[in-house]
Amino acid sequence: MKSRNSLLLMAFASVALLMAASTPEEKTSGAAAGEKWVAPASADKIKNPLADNAKAWKRGKKTYDAMCAICHGTKGKGDGIAGMALKPRPADLTSKDVQSQSDGAIYWKLTTGKPPMASYKALLKDKQRWELVNYIRKLKK
Ligand code: HEC
Repeated sequence: MKSRNSLLLMAFASVALLMAASTPEEKTSGAAAGEKWVAPASADKIKNPLADNAKAWKRGKKTYDAMCAICHGTKGKGDGIAGMALKPRPADLTSKDVQSQSDGAIYWKLTTGKPPMASYKALLKDKQRWELVNYIRKLKK
């Protein structure tokens, strides 16, 4: 199987798993619906190793299209097809709310995850997660 196909398969599999895990009657402890997801202050201090890399976002886009667009939408607006039934809904990555966060905070969220979004720590390499951060910056406006 080609690696792109297996990546897609992995993305779909993780979505399916997550959807199965988040039944409507499930109560997530301490995280009531509507509560804001805030990264710890220490995350702001994590340096983006690709901050000066003007091309890294291109690889980030590939990963995004394969693994994130299904929930967050192709333009990052939070309108992906698999996100429609989720609570909370996938974030609008173009919003001021997201764009005003530090690179470190966004990276921390991708790494840590929060149901119904997976943790990408094991699914993606460190570098791939930073490439995604750079691509999310491109989604601005
Ligand atoms: C299963 C659907 C799903 C997939 C796939 C997914 N996300 Fe999410 N994502 C969510 C949801 C839902 C939230 C909102 C969580 C919350 O606010 O409690 C979220 C939140 C986020 C946030 C935090 C936004 C904020 O409010 O600060 C970022 C950044 C993010 N996602 C990026 C990504 C990236 C990059 C990928 C691909 C590697 C991805 N997501 C894949 C559902 C998904």
